[in-house]
Amino acid sequence: MEAKQSPQSGELHVLLGTEQTFPPPEHFAAQANANDPQIYEQAAADPEGWWSGWADKLEWIEPYEQVLDWSEPPFARWFGGGRLNASANCLDRHVAAGNGDRVAILWEAEDADDPGSGSERDGGRRSVTYSELLEMTQRVANALKSLGIGQGDVVGIYLPMLPETVAAMLACARIGAIHNVVFGGFSAESVKERMQFSDAKALVTADATLRRGEPTPMKKAVDAVAGEIATLEHIVVVDRCGTNPPMSDGRDHFWHDLLDRADPDCPPEPMDSEDPLYILYTSGSTGKPKGILHTTAGYLTGVTATHKLVFDLKPETDVYWCGADVGWVTGHSYIVYGPLANGATSVMYEGAPNYPAEDRWWQIIERYGVTIFYTAPTAIRACMKWGREHPDAHDLSSLRLLGSVGEPINPRAWLWYREVIGGGRCPIVDTWWQTETGAIMITPLPGLTTTKPGSATIPFPGIEATILDSAGKEIERGAGTLVLTRPWPSMARTLYREHERFIETYWQGYGSDVYLVGDAARRDEDGYFWIVGRIDDVINVAGHRLSTMEVESTLVSNPGVAEAAVIGIPDEMTGQAIVAFVIPEGGDGDDMEKELRDYVAEKIGKLARPKRIVVCDDLPKTRSGKIMRRILRDISVGEDLGDVTTLRDPEVVKDVERRFAEQD
Ligand code: PRX
Repeated sequence: MEAKQSPQSGELHVLLGTEQTFPPPEHFAAQANANDPQIYEQAAADPEGWWSGWADKLEWIEPYEQVLDWSEPPFARWFGGGRLNASANCLDRHVAAGNGDRVAILWEAEDADDPGSGSERDGGRRSVTYSELLEMTQRVANALKSLGIGQGDVVGIYLPMLPETVAAMLACARIGAIHNVVFGGFSAESVKERMQFSDAKALVTADATLRRGEPTPMKKAVDAVAGEIATLEHIVVVDRCGTNPPMSDGRDHFWHDLLDRADPDCPPEPMDSEDPLYILYTSGSTGKPKGILHTTAGYLTGVTATHKLVFDLKPETDVYWCGADVGWVTGHSYIVYGPLANGATSVMYEGAPNYPAEDRWWQIIERYGVTIFYTAPTAIRACMKWGREHPDAHDLSSLRLLGSVGEPINPRAWLWYREVIGGGRCPIVDTWWQTETGAIMITPLPGLTTTKPGSATIPFPGIEATILDSAGKEIERGAGTLVLTRPWPSMARTLYREHERFIETYWQGYGSDVYLVGDAARRDEDGYFWIVGRIDDVINVAGHRLSTMEVESTLVSNPGVAEAAVIGIPDEMTGQAIVAFVIPEGGDGDDMEKELRDYVAEKIGKLARPKRIVVCDDLPKTRSGKIMRRILRDISVGEDLGDVTTLRDPEVVKDVERRFAEQD
């Protein structure tokens, strides 16, 4: 596969625009978990020994016999022969070690001081200890069993940010069911598709989710599509907002009814190291989302190691907060499995950063004395826009470490984050990774790595990354295609029920043992990596990964649309934004813009709502009829169009340019 947009190094310099470096603060380096620079060399010399050292910190029911079997790449088998249970590692062993009273989750409702309607609210704040979370998880596990769910069954989870969501995931892990979480901001249509692709037997959802004070129905939305999910037998409903959703006899059950009846004791199922833990659908180059499959032991090893070292976690004293949603991989790895496996105390916040006011996050940090905070560049840029008076009004002195994830962070946002939120004293870890990698791959280690604003720096110990040109030649310094050249424990094992696609997408570009990431990156003179963006048709809007093809196929499913082409353009706030060019089906397409934007939001989710819809008579196409998206991109960003002679009808470009300018 060729890097379609290999950036030139000159361009990048302009993009990055800063030469500053930040060595680890001395006070930090001395006490950091990773304060021995030799771990990099040790891990490189004996990667299997490095990872098995982390695996050995887990609790095993039966020990593993072999660290890694990589004899037939890309089939990886980590910790073969071992048996363990992920939920027991996240809960039981902490309770057994005498830490049952330690708080696992400090839950904060959207508007905790004025919780509005809500049956689960408990005054808007809940503090759930490890013992309590274990009990809830065991009850849910037994409830699922009572519905006939067992090992290997797929359970959909479509819930807001609640402790119940965590318990539902861990309950699946406890009985060997495979969870398939769908982000609560996705539409019911997206839920349907993901449940159909995975043959889900049960779905756990809520009556509604609170968004800016208003309950938005979830169960009712699910009801409209549930009949089309042939394998779905049960829907379990968490009563979050007390909205009395319609319930179908036999199929639908309230969470609290099931839990009241359930036995509080459910022994963890001994799972094989390579048994599936979960599926998580993410966007790929084609319209159909990819069901990334993670297995048990390797995944747990990867998230435990990275969570501990990258965030310098000290479970006895830290208050950790990852601001992502559980519905994304960041939530899976760094709200649920990593922090709980490490016995951390985490904040979990239900709502938006600016509801009811723009200081909501800073209020939470002050209230709980948060020490480690992990969020996305888009959120940081939004906070910058709202103004520093909001963080300045709060005592943020408890913070000692800041993290960033999901998209490249521009140096200006990095510096603001460091100065305004971190008071100039907190190291920043810009963590690069993906749903497929399961855990953080390229990142500074606080206490060890000198950081540069905008660079994710260097691979985590045991990870080997490099940059290749289109012929597969390594680029020591400069830009090209990012690849990972050594297997790692938390790597995706397959795409659920699409193994061929898994191999084609990730393991055929440069050989069956080289993982093709799908990002372009540059390596500088210090060996630091600078992620530039995707090289495929995936775009990243506000840290959310979307497929342009998925948006296109949604647009053409609207009877008013004959053809559509979707591109991502740079956006100051959201990193990238969606622009869609559409040809109307009959009619002149007047007033279609809003309708189509709403249509996409309804079909996929609000996160996919195009920023602009441009209605045109025709689209620039090659003689063979292929839409030239490059030209649409150039028009959208005001670039010189370059060579248009390969177009079937070069006149079309003028019309599209005119429409783009007129409809601005
Ligand atoms: O393009 C990279 C970008 O997000 C993609 C992965 O998206 P997803 O699977 O949704 O996972 C997001 C959270 C891990 C990557 O291919 N990306 C992620 N983190 C960074 C990033 N780009 C630059 N810097 C990062 N720190």
